Amino acid sequence: MQICRTKTAIRARITDWRSTGAPVVLVPTMGFLHDGHLSLMRLARARAGEQGRVVASIFVNPTQFGPNEDFESYPRDEARDFDLLRSEGVDAVFAPDIAEVYDPQAQTIVETTELAKVLIGKLRPGHFRGVATVVTKLFNIIRPDAAVFGEKDYQQLAVLRTMARDLDMGVEIIGAPIQREADGLAMSSRNVRLSPADRAAAPVLARALDQAEIMAPTGITASRLRSHVRATLEGEPRARVQSVDIRDAATLDTIAGPLTRPAVILLAVSFGKVFLIDNRVVHPTPPEEP
Ligand code: PAJ
Repeated sequence: MQICRTKTAIRARITDWRSTGAPVVLVPTMGFLHDGHLSLMRLARARAGEQGRVVASIFVNPTQFGPNEDFESYPRDEARDFDLLRSEGVDAVFAPDIAEVYDPQAQTIVETTELAKVLIGKLRPGHFRGVATVVTKLFNIIRPDAAVFGEKDYQQLAVLRTMARDLDMGVEIIGAPIQREADGLAMSSRNVRLSPADRAAAPVLARALDQAEIMAPTGITASRLRSHVRATLEGEPRARVQSVDIRDAATLDTIAGPLTRPAVILLAVSFGKVFLIDNRVVHPTPPEEP
């Protein structure tokens, strides 16, 4: 596995590979990898094929963190990450430092004007501008045929699909299912920062989503479903509920009245200083019997 610290080094490597005609598939990450990230590497390999190339990036992107967020304390363990990527058969990793990515004179940003303002964008102003800008830069540096992102960050995936489409980026965006711990907690690099008591309480997010999935096909309205989800979360005294939203799964538009189309339930909940998100797509009609 090639470890590239500079744009020049990764570009040179990829130019060589591209000359063989094999697809290049990118998996952007901020490191401190867990099985959720590794499932993205496997999906990337499936898309690239044996002849293709899988490139991962590890970069804790400062522009997507707010001034009072956890950029400094975001967990990092590069040596371990490289071992994990090597064992997944990743061909190259791009792991630049901040100065390699951001020119202090830079003045260009990428923003999905509407999607960046709602939901998590409202809780974390500027977050999606940071994500869209860095992912654009990674696409321009690596020029992948496809890139894989997790459905765990549902709004991020929607932002990046919209961006790639609106700006004709020519990069296929592939969504990957959420990977969970045995007790249902969605895997996240931030989970290690939960205290033991908070870690024990955190599966309440998955529990609330399981219940909502069962209630969705009963003709329930979005607002009643939302109240049920909120009540379940608030039943856990350690949880500080930041937001519960039920939106159209395809457009993230608000929903009034009963569910008529697939909807996504989006949760943001804090435990102490740790901010967790989770989501589930639910359906207004039960799945058909095979
Ligand atoms: P990061 O949080 O490291 O996540 C990298 C990728 O892994 C994202 O696409 C995320 O959705 C996916 N992922 C995280 N946890 C997952 C889980 N439990 N199951 C499935 N996929 C999961 O998301 C970012 O980094 C950054 O915003 C980035 C896109 C790299 C831009 O800086």
